[in-house]
Amino acid sequence: MKKYASLKSIASYIPSRCVKNSDFEAVLDTTDEWIRKRTGIQTRYFASDDENSSDLGTKAAKLAIERAGLAVGDIDLVIVATLSPDYLGMPSTACLLSAKLGIRNKPAFDISTACSGFIYLLSLAKSFIESGTYENILIVGAEKVSSILDFKDRSTCVLFGDGAGAAVITSTTEQDKSILDVHISSDGTYYDYLFTPRTLKGSGFLQERFSPQYLQMKGNETFKLAVKTLTNDVENIMKKNNIASKDIDFFIPHQANLRIISAVGEQLKFSSEQVVITVEKYGNTSAASIPMAMNDIYESGRLKAGDLMLLDAFGGGLTWGSALVYFGA
Ligand code: UT7
Repeated sequence: MKKYASLKSIASYIPSRCVKNSDFEAVLDTTDEWIRKRTGIQTRYFASDDENSSDLGTKAAKLAIERAGLAVGDIDLVIVATLSPDYLGMPSTACLLSAKLGIRNKPAFDISTACSGFIYLLSLAKSFIESGTYENILIVGAEKVSSILDFKDRSTCVLFGDGAGAAVITSTTEQDKSILDVHISSDGTYYDYLFTPRTLKGSGFLQERFSPQYLQMKGNETFKLAVKTLTNDVENIMKKNNIASKDIDFFIPHQANLRIISAVGEQLKFSSEQVVITVEKYGNTSAASIPMAMNDIYESGRLKAGDLMLLDAFGGGLTWGSALVYFGA
């Protein structure tokens, strides 16, 4: 019998420190009004000094495993998407998170696809399950973006927040409980639209130190490309699967900017009930933004088993993607 991949559970973790727009007014040339008007963001949450992405991810992952009705020992593979790993290079955040969960002797690795992380995770999990390689996969978007923000740059530091979202993807024979389709893509020629320069460069005895590797973004250019690319991508995946806007229960876009979400949502004719918006509360939490938004509608009781979700994301790389997912709980 054909195997399908099912998104069995969803969970998130939000760190406790709430940062309001007005908190930036004291240290930057900015206003609550500008941030709300241009982005929709009102608050975001920052992790504490001793909390890293693996800690945030572990808390979300524990709950996701529990909600899937599984034990940590049932997990065959752990994949983490993050642009703010605990360590630069190695070890991976997935290895650290696995250790914190008590998962040993199982494969674990990170992917680096910035804000499109969760869509790429779904694509990987779907392939591993449909090929019969694994039965239960833990996917996690975990971000301490605050650790790579330049708090002197008003054009970026007000936009992002920390948090984590996790899901368990399991094997099923029922297509109407499965991840129907995932599309992912990238274009590295736009690498400097959103990037974090390396701190160290050089070889041998010549090692030059650069300023800390803060996130940099060409905001306006990224904004325009995001609206165009996401609209096309979402139209294509719906057409390919013969699905119309009215068939979608929830449109869950990456939460970068309310104006991007509204522009894409309007062009695709989604109603306000269909579009899930959390950017006002959490800001842009990169790879964690889609699973955090999904968890919000799950915990509020809106998301039910069998509901069809349309996801889309766009981020550094540049990377982007979309997915059609039945909630398999
Ligand atoms: O998650 C990955 C994908 N990310 C995105 O897709 C984000 C895309 N970009 C955006 O969301 C928006 O471009 C921003 C929110 C980053 C910026 O909004 P914008 O409407 O594109 O503004 P802008 O960059 O064109 O800047 C307009 C003005 C500038 O001032 P001048 O040059 O006109 O005097 C900026 O310096 O707004 C200024 N500005 C600010 N003013 C007050 C930029 N940031 C701030 C700020 N407070 N925080």
